Amino acid sequence: MRRPTEPPLTIAVPKGRLHDQVRELFERCGLAFDFAARKLVAEDRGGMVRLMLVKNSDVPVYVNHGIAGLGVCGDDVLYETAFDCFRLLTFPFGGTRMCLAARRDHDPNQDHGRLRVATKFTRFAHDFFHQRGIPVEVIRLGGSVELAPVLGLAPYIVDLVETGSTLAANDLVVTEELERISVHLIANPAYYKFRYAQVDRLVQRLEPCIVAQGVKDESTTG
Ligand code: PRP
Repeated sequence: MRRPTEPPLTIAVPKGRLHDQVRELFERCGLAFDFAARKLVAEDRGGMVRLMLVKNSDVPVYVNHGIAGLGVCGDDVLYETAFDCFRLLTFPFGGTRMCLAARRDHDPNQDHGRLRVATKFTRFAHDFFHQRGIPVEVIRLGGSVELAPVLGLAPYIVDLVETGSTLAANDLVVTEELERISVHLIANPAYYKFRYAQVDRLVQRLEPCIVAQGVKDESTTG
């Protein structure tokens, strides 16, 4: 519970599927939110936490500027923004893989030792291949990256793969898994220092639910 003198903790949460999963987890921990229609900010009934629904890639922006002290954010977004934050918890959902993919019929001999890659994750792609001494040309796209090999913009993409259905629908295949991506509860370092006791109470409250969900998911996926 929030102490009467404490303002609620502020958390930036991505809209969409992650938002639903975060809300479900929080509800299991006794933090329930009533979002009025189209409202993007809501507090739990006990006044412990205020959620702010923002675009996925904007989460670090709000946390970096201290508008939200905490955020729910994936490694992919954190890497692109190069934001220096604390990772307090890893959620048992939202895990994906950052992959290199190409058309099923692509012949690597046509690469001539240089990869041409379309991606939203340009910093990651540059760093990944440069660190391995692989020459790469990176083309930035804003979304629907799977179209690039289909339309001939680039033979390769670097993108997140979760179920693999978007790749399959576009006749693409994973040629290499580059990195595992997880979703974390992150904190602005200054906010964490000032509100440590309150943040710690939230973490203590979420941790058992995260562990329980992880165990349940493992048992249902075999
Ligand atoms: C992500 C990702 C892939 C897709 C992968 O896109 O960039 O396109 O999900 O999911 P799958 O393996 O389950 O098919 P997102 O939904 O964020 O849309 P975007 O391409 O417009 O960014």
